[in-house]
Amino acid sequence: LQMALVGIAVEMLSGVTCRARPRLGCLFLSSASKTVAPLSDTGSRRLRSTSSMQGFSELARERSKTVTSFYNQSAIDTSAEKASVRLTLATLLYSGKSPDGHHVLSSARYLHKELPVRIAHRIKGFRSLPFIIGCNPTILQVHELYIRAYHMLVDFPQIKDQEDEARFCKMVQQLLDDHKDVVTMLAQGFRECRRHIQDEMIIRNFLDTTLCSRLGIRMLATHHLAHHEENPEFVGIISRRLSPKKVIEKWVDFARRLCEHQYGNSPRVRINGHVAARFPFIPLPLDYILPELLKNAMRATMESHLETPYNVPDVIVTIANNDIDFVIRISDRGGGIPHSIIDKVMDYHFSTAEESAQDPRMSNLFDNITNSGNHSSPMHG
Ligand SMILES: Nc1ncnc2c1ncn2[C@@H]1O[C@H](COP(=O)(O)OP(=O)(O)O)[C@@H](O)[C@H]1O
Ligand SMILES: [Mg+2]
Repeated sequence: LQMALVGIAVEMLSGVTCRARPRLGCLFLSSASKTVAPLSDTGSRRLRSTSSMQGFSELARERSKTVTSFYNQSAIDTSAEKASVRLTLATLLYSGKSPDGHHVLSSARYLHKELPVRIAHRIKGFRSLPFIIGCNPTILQVHELYIRAYHMLVDFPQIKDQEDEARFCKMVQQLLDDHKDVVTMLAQGFRECRRHIQDEMIIRNFLDTTLCSRLGIRMLATHHLAHHEENPEFVGIISRRLSPKKVIEKWVDFARRLCEHQYGNSPRVRINGHVAARFPFIPLPLDYILPELLKNAMRATMESHLETPYNVPDVIVTIANNDIDFVIRISDRGGGIPHSIIDKVMDYHFSTAEESAQDPRMSNLFDNITNSGNHSSPMHG
């Protein structure tokens, strides 16, 4: 597998605008409301105590109000009209540090203005989902998390001094924590309404945009919070002299440990090419991508050599960089991806974990320990 990382971080930082789709909101006619009541509780309690037709239509009206409250929020509409302010690595890096801490205040003010815009774009994405998917309780829960975050940020007063900034940081940290399970929740939500999904492309576009933008938002937020940490190697989350080789080595150790645990052995990994390269970069995207590709390479290697697990071919990682780009190539001798699945391997939810061919002894051991099938493990699935 060849992985070009060119511009990934920059793309994440630049904020992604939502693709336009017909808005669901226009289906509803109720008045604007700012607070969002969860759809579940009051509605169902009322349902039980209502017997007359009149009561029923009252209930329907009330329910539609709570649903429309997800869609009729004019402040969010206004924010979503704004383009997000694009940042480049260079701006982030060279806005630099000031001895009086002025850079921290201006960074906080930038976030305070920028985050609601980006979040409003995400909310628009949720609104544009097909009705039946947008109404899934788990997806609605995430939708609501975003609306809540939007209001918390917009309601936060102007940041005038360090005290304000400290309170702002606390709130941002809180939001990061509140949203940490969003990826899992989205995966669960889409799994739940999978049978209603007619056009996979809609979901793929939604997830591509939402997940990429989420990462950008989290990178900006973490970057700001990191200003308060003293580390001469870093400006915020930017490593001044990132060594791709070091990052690769870290994830090689990680993947090999997992692999040994699951298969009893793991391929060795040789790193070649521009091993001495160092440049300013944000490690975070690499931290997401490298472990996954290394695990894939090691799994393929081990499963194609089940007869000789203690004698498997090495995985080779090649680093190549010039003034503009850098490329990390991970190659394995695990037999490659069959043609029949090549179009699907980039789909969300696609995995061949359930057909994982392991040594049966290992598999039994694993099943007993986890009390589940081997469909999903830290190695795959
Ligand atoms: N290096 C590789 N060699 C052979 N097949 C691979 C390799 N990387 C990925 N694949 C195939 O692509 C599928 C999807 O990979 P991935 O998205 O990482 O999901 P998972 O690893 O959870 O199954 C894998 O299940 C596997 O069949
Ligand atoms: Mg994988």
